[in-house]
Amino acid sequence: MELNLRGKTAFISGSTSGIGFATALTLLQEGASVIINGRNQEGINNALERLKSQFPQSNINGIAADFSNPKEVQLLIEKLPNIDILINNVGIYKSQTFFETTDDDWQNQMEVNLMSGVRLSRNLLPKMLERNWGRILFISSECASLVPEDLIAYSTTKASLLAISRGLAQLTKGKGVTVNTIIPGSTLTEGAVDFLEDVAEKENKTKEVVANDFFKEVRTSSLLQRFASVDEVASTITYYSSPLAAATNGAAIKIDGGSIGGIL
Ligand SMILES: NC(=O)c1ccc[n+]([C@@H]2O[C@H](COP(=O)([O-])OP(=O)(O)OC[C@H]3O[C@@H](n4cnc5c(N)ncnc54)[C@H](OP(=O)(O)O)[C@@H]3O)[C@@H](O)[C@H]2O)c1
Repeated sequence: MELNLRGKTAFISGSTSGIGFATALTLLQEGASVIINGRNQEGINNALERLKSQFPQSNINGIAADFSNPKEVQLLIEKLPNIDILINNVGIYKSQTFFETTDDDWQNQMEVNLMSGVRLSRNLLPKMLERNWGRILFISSECASLVPEDLIAYSTTKASLLAISRGLAQLTKGKGVTVNTIIPGSTLTEGAVDFLEDVAEKENKTKEVVANDFFKEVRTSSLLQRFASVDEVASTITYYSSPLAAATNGAAIKIDGGSIGGIL
C-alpha cells in the first residue's frame, strides 16, 4: 500500500529508541522526512547514525530537548520547521504505590507525558489548520484504561491524552487535519527487554519464561498473550499519520492485543 507520505515532515518526541525510533524508521521507509528527539545530543547522534545507515538518501534530523524542562521545550519549538505530522510519543513512568507517589513524581509525569503534547500542539496545530493538512497523534497506553495499582500517576496522564486528543480534533471540523490517540499495549522495546532480562537473572529463569508469566499472571486480559513488537505498533502509527487515514478523526485506536476488552 502506498501511504503517500513523500514530502511530509514528521516530528516524533522521545524517539532515539523504542516505539518512537521504530516509527521514525517506518516513516522514513515511506519517504517522509523525520525529526527525532531525545534528552541529549549524544543519544540523538547515535540514533541518527543508525537511521542514516539504513536511509542514506533521506532527510533526517534531530533536536535535543528534555520534555521535563519547559525552557528546553520552548527552544525546541523555536527550532522546528513546518511540521505536517506531530507524534506526541514521549512518555515516562515510575512504578510505585499511590501513597509513595510525591507531588514531584506527579508533576514530572504530567510535564513529560501530557504537557509535552499540550505545548507542541498549541504551537503546531494552528499552522496545520492554516495549511489545511496535518496529523497529530497522542501515544497513550492500555494503562489509561487498565490503571495498574503501581502506575496510577502514569495511567492518569495517559487517560488525559484521550481528552486532549478528542478536544483538539473538535477544532479541526471541515479541515484536512486530524487528531487521534493511539493506545499501545505491552510492547517489546529495548527497555522492556532489559526489564525481562533483569527479572530473569534475579529469578533464575529465561526471559521467555518471565514474559510468558507476565501474560499468565499480570496482563491476563491480553488476547495476544505476548508483547507486541515495536514494528507492529510503528506500522499502525505510520498508517494513521498518512493521507490515507483522512476519515479517522477524534478516535482512540487500540493496538493493545485486546487487553482492554469491550467491543469499542
Ligand atoms: N513500551 C510499552 O510497552 C508501551 C506500552 C504502552 C504505551 N507506551 C507508550 O509509548 C510511548 C513510547 O514508549 P517506549 O516504551 O517506546 O518508550 P521508551 O523506550 O522508554 O522511550 C525512550 C525514548 O524516550 C526519550 N525520552 C525519555 N525521557 C525523555 C524526556 N524527558 N524528554 C525527551 N525525550 C525523552 C528517550 O530519549 P533519550 O534516552 O535519548 O533521552 C528515548 O528516545 C510512551 O508514551 C509510552 O508511555 C509504551
